[in-house]
Amino acid sequence: MLMLNGKTAIVTGANSGMGMAIAAALADMGAAVVMLCRNGERGREALNKLSEKSDRKLDLMLCDLGDISSVRAFADAFRAKYERLDILVNNAGFISLDRQTTKDGFERQFGVNHLGHFLLTLKLVDMIPSGGRIVNVSSGAHKTGKIHFADINLTKGFNVIKAYSQSKLANVLFTRELAVRLKYREITVNCCHPGAVATNIGISRDTGFGKTVTGMLKPFFQTPEQGARTAIYLASSEDVRDVTGEYFYQCKIAKSSVRSKDMELAKRFFEFSEELVEFRFEKSEPH
Ligand SMILES: NC(=O)c1ccc[n+]([C@@H]2O[C@H](COP(=O)([O-])OP(=O)(O)OC[C@H]3O[C@@H](n4cnc5c(N)ncnc54)[C@H](OP(=O)(O)O)[C@@H]3O)[C@@H](O)[C@H]2O)c1
Repeated sequence: MLMLNGKTAIVTGANSGMGMAIAAALADMGAAVVMLCRNGERGREALNKLSEKSDRKLDLMLCDLGDISSVRAFADAFRAKYERLDILVNNAGFISLDRQTTKDGFERQFGVNHLGHFLLTLKLVDMIPSGGRIVNVSSGAHKTGKIHFADINLTKGFNVIKAYSQSKLANVLFTRELAVRLKYREITVNCCHPGAVATNIGISRDTGFGKTVTGMLKPFFQTPEQGARTAIYLASSEDVRDVTGEYFYQCKIAKSSVRSKDMELAKRFFEFSEELVEFRFEKSEPH
C-alpha cells in the first residue's frame, strides 16, 4: 500500500458517504486528514467513528461551503494550524428537488458543489507543494449539464436535473482549467464519477425526506467504500502522479461531454466564478 506519512489532506463532506470512506482510506495510508464538515454534531459523530481505529491522524474543522465567509474563515484557520496541504479532495455535494439558495444567494447546488469548492481551492492553493493533488468529485450527470451564464442561479425554469448537472459540469470545467494553470507547479488536478452509490445524497438532513427511496435502491448501488475508490486512487496512486486535467471513472480516464472539454468555455467559466466569489487566482501563468 502506498504510504502518505507526513502528508496533510483535506476531505470535504467527510462526515457521510464517500467523504467518510475517502477520509478513512487516506488516514490508513498515514496522511493527517482534516475532515471538513458543515455540522458540528454530525462531524463529531463521524470523527468518533473513524477514530475507533487507532493510529489515524484525524482533525475536524467546520465549514459551510454554501457560505463564502465560512469558506474564508476555514482557509484562515487551516493556514494558522497547518504548514502545507498535499491532497485536497473536493467531495462534498448537495442535491435537491426544490430550489434553495446559499447564504450568499446562489442557487444551492451551484453554490455548494462548485463555488464553495472553487473558493476553498483558490484560497489554499499556495499551500500545495509540487507533487500535490487536487481531486474533484463530479458525476456522470455533468453530461446533460450546461452553464447558464445569463441565469446562473436558475431563477427561471429551475429543475433538479438542470441544477445538479450544471454544478457537476462546473466541477469538470474547473478541473480542466485549474490543471492548465497549475501544471507549471507540478500539482495535478483530476475529477471523477463515482458511479451510483448508496449514500445520504438527496436525503434532507432536516426532515429525513428521501430516506425510503434511497433505502429501496441500496441493494443495487455500490457501497460508499466502493464508490470512493476512484477518488482515493486519484489522491494517492503512483499510476497517476503525472496525469492532470482528466475525468475518471473506475480508476480509468473516461469519456466526458463535448462541452466539458471546451477549453474556451472552461476559461470563461473560471473567470466568471472568480467574479462571483470576488477572489482572483493571481499565480497563474498566461496561456
Ligand atoms: N451517491 C452517488 O450515487 C453519487 C453519484 C455521482 C456523484 N456523487 C457525488 O459524490 C459526492 C459525495 O456525495 P455522497 O454521495 O457521498 O453524499 P452524502 O452521503 O450526502 O455526503 C455529502 C457530504 O457533503 C456535505 N455537504 C453538503 N452540503 C455541504 C455544505 N454546504 N458545506 C459542507 N459540506 C456539505 C454533507 O454534509 P452534511 O451531512 O452535514 O449534510 C456530507 O458530508 C458529491 O459530490 C456527489 O455529488 C454521488
